[in-house]
Amino acid sequence: MRISVIGTGYVGLVTGTCFAEKGNQVLCADIDATRIEKLNQGIAPFYEPGLEELIKKNASKKRLHFTANIQEAMESAEMLMIAVGTPSDLDGSTDLSYVMSVAESIGQHMNADKYVVVKSTVPVGTCEAVRNVIERVLRARGVNYKVQIVSNPEFLREGAALEDCLYPPRVIVGVENDETQQVMLNLYRPFVEDTSKILFVDIFSSEMTKYAANAMLATRISFMNELSRICEVTGANIDLVKKGMGMDPRIGPHFLNAGVGYGGSCFPKDVKALIKTARNIGSELSILQAVEEVNQQQHDHFFKKVQDYFKGQLEGKTIAMWGLAFKPGTDDLREAPALRLIEKFLYYGARVKAADPIALEGARKLLSFESRVELFDSFYEALNGADALVIVTEWPEFKGADLNQVKASLKNSVIFDGRNIFLPSEMEELGFDYISIGKEMGLGLQKQTAILQPQQITNQWIN
Ligand code: UDX
Repeated sequence: MRISVIGTGYVGLVTGTCFAEKGNQVLCADIDATRIEKLNQGIAPFYEPGLEELIKKNASKKRLHFTANIQEAMESAEMLMIAVGTPSDLDGSTDLSYVMSVAESIGQHMNADKYVVVKSTVPVGTCEAVRNVIERVLRARGVNYKVQIVSNPEFLREGAALEDCLYPPRVIVGVENDETQQVMLNLYRPFVEDTSKILFVDIFSSEMTKYAANAMLATRISFMNELSRICEVTGANIDLVKKGMGMDPRIGPHFLNAGVGYGGSCFPKDVKALIKTARNIGSELSILQAVEEVNQQQHDHFFKKVQDYFKGQLEGKTIAMWGLAFKPGTDDLREAPALRLIEKFLYYGARVKAADPIALEGARKLLSFESRVELFDSFYEALNGADALVIVTEWPEFKGADLNQVKASLKNSVIFDGRNIFLPSEMEELGFDYISIGKEMGLGLQKQTAILQPQQITNQWIN
């Protein structure tokens, strides 16, 4: 099939490349000419494992092309995929201006009947609005081509995007007739061994599924984060609780890791957007409002552990920070908890020495004006003379760190682990004050914070 993908962001570029890999003729288009120039040289605009290799492979096989000429992209394909950004407005609602501007331009350049597939994450009803815009422009031009609208949300995870796209656990497709369903079935057949993994639904349900899935995952994380705070005070261990919960097949083991709170380009934005969609129709999504609130609190809760350890005196302290990206395997800093933490450390007068395996370039752009932030390639160098180490992203290299070297480099042997990558017993044996998430607090905090005694918990039943 001849497919044009409009938008070479995360979703557009990964999807376009994967469709080319499966033998389609794909033209990826973007109004950013510099980005297209780089893509033509095989350079991806962001880091994603394996992506550049796959781009080069498919470009050399002449199945994957790039253009800044939107008209060419719209005229030359049978199927147009809209994969432009849908950022949050200030009030949390979804900014659909890029999607609608692509719809206008499809209307202007359409030269035959076409399938228009919306891949961007959009609120319920957007596909319908896209069709209306295209048809209005077609009418104004006095032409009458058929527009077959499809909703086909993308569920790829950054850092595992190729795997998610090439071997999807499920594909959600919203269609309105059998003919389009057949076309989409043929398109996705090479991606799945079993076609029952392709779920055909109506367009509204497809649009909603994307938000619902992300909102559910965010809910699991916030639930575990909130529970972790109770574990800290009662002496339970959130990692063991997680293990026990995850063994129940009705719950499952995934997305139950307590930490510093979720970040990234999807969860924060999509949770807000779903809350806003509900408000627009006079409803409140109370659970999701709490999910968002707990996430904000979790960043602050972790910060407070550091602040409490130093008895509120962060002024003049140097904090080594391991990890800036919102999660491992990506250089993405969007809504990264590390940035929020850095902001707080600076506000309270501390200096930050941060290291990340691949997010430094982006971090330099964002933080270059901050004289009290230093960025390091080597995560050991970031430790020199620091008062404490704070771990924010669970990069595998941090897990394998030489802890004796860590101890020797730090001024105080204290680690705040926001991702629970080490075992408290081992860390304490090595002589660290080790303060993690959802476990009995490390030595330093125990001195200051009373852990609840079983008696305190049971007293109310005895009295
Ligand atoms: C997410 C969805 O997983 C994906 O399906 C959707 O298309 C886009 O949004 P992504 O943002 O790439 O993908 O990252 P993901 O791996 O889902 O993690 C999101 C955030 O949740 C990260 O900040 C991560 O650290 C956090 N997280 C994840 C936890 O805190 N605990 C967990 O158990 C899992």
